[in-house]
Amino acid sequence: MGTAHAPSFVTADDPWVGLNGGLEAQLAGLHREIRAKPELATIDRIAVAVHDSASGRLRTFVESNIGSRPFDRFSDRLELHPTLAAVATTGIPFINNAIGGDPAGGDGLNDRLRSLGLRSRYIVRIHRSGTLYGFIFFNSGRPGFFTEATVAALTPYRRLIDVLVVGTLTSQRTMLAAVRSALQVSHYRNEETGAHLDRMSRYAELIAQTLAARYLLSDEFVEYVLQYAPLHDIGKVAVPDHILLKRGKLLPEEYEVMKTHVAKGVEIIDAMIHDHGLEALPYRDLLRNVVAHHHECYDGSGYPHGLAGEAISLEGRIVAVADVFDALTSQRPYKEAWSNDTAAAFLRAQAGRRFDPACVEALLADPEAIRDIQQRFRETPGGFGLAALRHRAAQAAAC
Ligand code: C2E
Ligand code: SIN
Ligand code: SIN
Ligand code: FE
Ligand code: FE
Repeated sequence: MGTAHAPSFVTADDPWVGLNGGLEAQLAGLHREIRAKPELATIDRIAVAVHDSASGRLRTFVESNIGSRPFDRFSDRLELHPTLAAVATTGIPFINNAIGGDPAGGDGLNDRLRSLGLRSRYIVRIHRSGTLYGFIFFNSGRPGFFTEATVAALTPYRRLIDVLVVGTLTSQRTMLAAVRSALQVSHYRNEETGAHLDRMSRYAELIAQTLAARYLLSDEFVEYVLQYAPLHDIGKVAVPDHILLKRGKLLPEEYEVMKTHVAKGVEIIDAMIHDHGLEALPYRDLLRNVVAHHHECYDGSGYPHGLAGEAISLEGRIVAVADVFDALTSQRPYKEAWSNDTAAAFLRAQAGRRFDPACVEALLADPEAIRDIQQRFRETPGGFGLAALRHRAAQAAAC
């Protein structure tokens, strides 16, 4: 293991890495620097997992490996991992220098790490003023690797990774907070509920995750698809009420006004990025593309630009499928909800026309996952309108 392997970092050929100086590229660069130091040359893997306080879940956010990507995207409840939970509460790093040597000390990941030839692990928390952001994992193929001396040599790099991760998450959260307040306004007017945004963003995540293996997408890409998908219709705030809230079919000229929500959305995103000084927002292009491309069609018949095939960003193709599937299976002021089967048949019929067939198949491959999302994100009590808005505001305040 280690120096015997040709380093194969996540490279710039990966189209999703390095966008807007993404954290994955920064981590790969730091990993390269770390391995250039003789005493740290056998650090074979560095990973960061982030903690979502709303769901209690921990998931891999970025990683840098020597060799191919060995880990499936890790997503699990923190409480199921006592070792990590202890690091989170006490702040005391965890070191295991004999992975697999002590079955009782395992947390379920030991076997996987060992099968990859990794023998030592060092885990530290990322933490600010009482809030857990996540963990940094360092792994080495050498048993007994993490000593006082190697940990000390690693410390400046560990601090840098910590700061980069917190900075990335903070600018992402600032952006999302700004956007959420805009969404509150749009929800007030638009009868689409927060539950629609939750479901469609989970469908988008499901598609991205299913496609990740085929297209070698990074965990970061999947994460940002989930984070930014709810913003696809932000431009609807600029559509007049008599059109947006119309109970019934739109007239052709009204539909033309409706379609301007895409260009308006891109303007709003650009203005928010500018006003909040978020030019360095991670995956900024992904956010823009989600808004700009969500009504483009695979065969070029969509709007506003009539882009076709790969000219439409992958995130745009993903969100288009997720958005329409949820629109079809939901009630709208102008239509009844369709069954999952009817909506699936529609997506299949439109695969290769309106939709990217790979995205359609990725969503429909797992009907159980779809039902699970529908169970988890039901409409809020009180249906549409003010009561639902208050309920959502109360939920938001509790987060
Ligand atoms: P939305 O309700 O979020 O719908 C998103 C997309 O899902 C629609 O994009 C369309 O592609 C698809 N979709 C939704 N409902 C149906 C349906 O019953 N049949 C079919 N075949 N596809 C459906 P689209 O058409 O560009 O519409 C964009 C937005 O314009 C919609 O967002 C909705 O807010 C509004 N809209 C569209 N048609 C009407 C309408 O007839 N009446 C009203 N009041 N609003 C409409
Ligand atoms: C992870 O990489 O997501 C966890 C595995 C580890 O402990 O290194
Ligand atoms: C469409 O299918 O393109 C329009 C959606 C609707 O009016 O129901
Ligand atoms: Fe839209
Ligand atoms: Fe939508």
